[in-house]
Formats: sequence, structure tokens, C-alpha cells
Amino acid sequence: QVAQNSVKLQASEKKITINKHIYGHFAEHLGRCIYGGFYVGEDNRTIPHTAGVRNDIVAALKKLKIPNLRWPGGCFADTYHWKDGIGPKDQRPTIVNTWWGGVTENNSFGTHDFLNMCELLETEPYLAGNVGSGQVQELADWVQYVNHAGTSPMADLRRKNGRENPWKVKYWGVGNEAWGCGGNMTPEYYSDVYRKYATFMSDWTNSGGLSRIASGANGGDYNWTEVLMKNIPHGLVDGLALHHYSNVQWNKKGPATGFTDEQYFKTMKSAWHMEELVTKHSAIMDKYDARKRIALVVDEWGGWYEVEPGTNPGFLYQQNTMRDAMIAGVTLNVFNNHAERVRMANLAQTVNVLQAVILTEGDKMILTPTYHVMEMYKVHQDATLIPLTLQSKDYVFGNEKIPAIHASASAKEGVTHISLVNIDSKVKHEIVVDLDKSYKDISGRILTSKTLTDHNTFEAPDKIKPVAFNGAKVKNNQLTVEIAPYSVVVLQLK
Ligand code: AHR
Repeated sequence: QVAQNSVKLQASEKKITINKHIYGHFAEHLGRCIYGGFYVGEDNRTIPHTAGVRNDIVAALKKLKIPNLRWPGGCFADTYHWKDGIGPKDQRPTIVNTWWGGVTENNSFGTHDFLNMCELLETEPYLAGNVGSGQVQELADWVQYVNHAGTSPMADLRRKNGRENPWKVKYWGVGNEAWGCGGNMTPEYYSDVYRKYATFMSDWTNSGGLSRIASGANGGDYNWTEVLMKNIPHGLVDGLALHHYSNVQWNKKGPATGFTDEQYFKTMKSAWHMEELVTKHSAIMDKYDARKRIALVVDEWGGWYEVEPGTNPGFLYQQNTMRDAMIAGVTLNVFNNHAERVRMANLAQTVNVLQAVILTEGDKMILTPTYHVMEMYKVHQDATLIPLTLQSKDYVFGNEKIPAIHASASAKEGVTHISLVNIDSKVKHEIVVDLDKSYKDISGRILTSKTLTDHNTFEAPDKIKPVAFNGAKVKNNQLTVEIAPYSVVVLQLK
């Protein structure tokens, strides 16, 4: 059984860039993301590292060209006091990670460690400031500490701690989930709090300007976006966040592997909900900001399931299957297609937490199916969006249905890329693509596996990885592509 679908690439006058920051990542002090993940400590003798940061992780993430990395949270950010994480490591106070497992951390990974790690990764840092339990002065000081080149109390303290030049951090979150773990605020109250914090975040001119991002809505809380857009003077804000996790059911998440067909369908429905969320939040933003100056920043997204059996429930460690590859493929296509407003996003989270791209165990490291989707899609970073119309057959489960095929396309330096996803768990789909012009050379890669629940393990790390795709045929200006169930294909046309 093969279902028929069609895609038409549109020639467009308007040139919209797919901002590379859509392909951002997120590293919270949570479980084994930082400690025992990225960071194994300067004294570690068994795992190769640079200043305590694993070399294998740095190499893998550089291959992804990760454009930005958000830190230190998440919920943790609103409990974090940055001054506890600077200066001699043996004199730093501890912090109890109250949100995630109640573990005591020694603050050995702090501001210098993170920002130096970003330099190693050749990525831009995105710092989340503490609004929930912090103070205006504390966040203002952090900006001065990392960004001021001249003489000032915080710049001098930075120098005393061994760093002469500022890091010039552009992206700043002003609190996180202010509606929940960041303070349980109302949007009206948070808007006022935000105005105060943002006012005192000087950009220290030499840093090239700050991008201040307000804590945004929880999924479909459209009132949150409406109130913030209305109440925050637009000169004080550059981005509005949005968080949405894909799962079966919030209080009954099901396993990360070994899930049922029904659990898979529900997760896909939840992932596809991102299209509606982004469309509706953007429409509200358009009312107040027709020129689209303020970005919609989806700084937490991904699949969220039950933790792996026997692991700490507060550490959110989960495996990553072809289902996660489908979430990534669908979501990144949504972001690409909405690139005019969605200009930054962060997958949660990079290493060992939630929909991770990397899992570690001792000195071993594996790349997940999500890593491979991110790697295949990196061609869209900073490329020009090619708008498309898509007619998709449905993926049906019981009485419910969602589109089976998801697509986006872009062009850069004379090369066009089309990313296609078939989320259907059973049916092979044929897609007829009407091209915008004629191409001579067509190639591609596919990510798929025998079973939907397949995943890479420390014993079989390369079970799932992209391979050459030869299911595309071209005739005149029409391309016919056959895609197996639960597969991601990225085509390259020259
Ligand atoms: O990513 C895990 C948590 O999910 C974050 O700390 C929080 O912001 C969200 O609720």
C-alpha cells in the first residue's frame, strides 16, 4: 500500500532567512546533563577533556554546528546565583538542586566554565537570568561581569578571576517559566517585573547589543502572549519565549522505548500541535508588532517520557528512538516554515536529559536518532526559505487523524534542500514534488530503521544512522519520492 501526496515549491519575492538559531540547544543543571555529561571535571584521568569538558561531546556538537546553547536552566535558572559559581573552585558554596533530584552541587561548573565551553563549541551562549529568586542588581551585575570591557566593579572581578576580555553575550532570558517554576506569576505581574529587570540590563555598548527574551507562554496559553505584547514596551524586549513538550499525556507519559502504536500516535499528535501553537502565538504577536521585530523563541521543545527504569526520577534520563526522530523532523519543519517569526529555538536537552542528542555512560558516548536529524537538517541554517504548499494524506489511528507527511525547503549558495518526514507507522508514502526550476543533480540521505522503537545503544551505537537515499526520481520539473514509514529524508538539488 502506497499513499499519494504532493508538494509544490513556490517561487517567492520575499526573502525569508531560516535563522540558524532555530537549531539551538539547551543545557540545564539537571541530572547528568552538566555534571557527568558535558563536564567530567578537570581532574578526570579516564575521559579525554579540555578544562573538564568532554572532547568527544565537543567534537560531536561542532559537527552539528550548534548555533547557541541555553544555560543554566530551565527551572534551575531561577534558583541559581551566578556569583556562587565564580572564583577558586574549592571556595565556592554548594547549591541544592531543589527542582531536579534534590542533589547537592559544588558549583564547580560556573560562568567561566560555561562561556569558555561555548567558545570551544564555537556557539553563542544564551544565559537565563534568575528572576524568580534573584534580584535586579544580581542580573545587572551578571551582564556587566560577562560583557563589560572597561573598568567597573564586575569587569575587574572577572579579570581577577582570570578572564581579561568580555565574552560579549548577546542572548539573555529574563526568567524562565514565570507562570510556573519561575515564580507562579500572572502575566500582568510578570510584565511589570520584566520591565524592571530589562531596564537595568545595560548592554555595555562594546558587546554589540543585547537580545532580551521574556519568559513566554506554556503551550496554548495565548492570554500570556497577549498580555506581554500589550504591557511590555517593545523597546525593552527582543524575543518572547514559548515552551511545548510532546508526550502521550502529561501525567501518564509512557516509556521512552517499547511504547504502543497508540502512544506513538498521541505523541505525534502532540508534536504536530506545535504548528497550531506557533501559528496562533504569531498571530497575536502580529497584532502588536506587524513588522515582526520581536522574535518568537521556542526555547524548550522535545519529547518527554518516563525515565529509564532504575534511574533517578528527578534526572529525566530517557532513551531516544525513531519516534524522537519523527518529533525532531516535524518540529524543525514547522519552525523553518514559520521562520519569519520563529527565529530561535532550543531542543531540551543536549546531553542525557529528555530528548537528548547525546547519551553518555562512563567514557562511552552515543549519538541518538535526534542527533542525526539535527545533523541532516543543518543545511537549512541561515538558508533562504522556499515556501511550499503540501497536500498530505492522513495518518489515521482509530477515529483520529493527523497529516502523515511534513516538509520544508530552503536554498543556499545555489543548492536547494527539501526535508521530508513520513510519520505514518504503517504506510509507505509517495510524494510528487513540483520543483521551482530544473535541477541536474539530485541526491539525498534517509534516516529510518526496521522498527519504530529502535534506538542506538552503547552496545550498538550505529544501529540508526543516515544512509544514502535513492528513492527519488526526476522527470521534467517533477520529482517523485517514495518514503518508508517513520523515515526522514533530506534531498539535495543542484
Ligand atoms: O527541561 C526540563 C524543564 O522543563 C525545565 O527546567 C523547565 O523550564 C520545563 O518545565
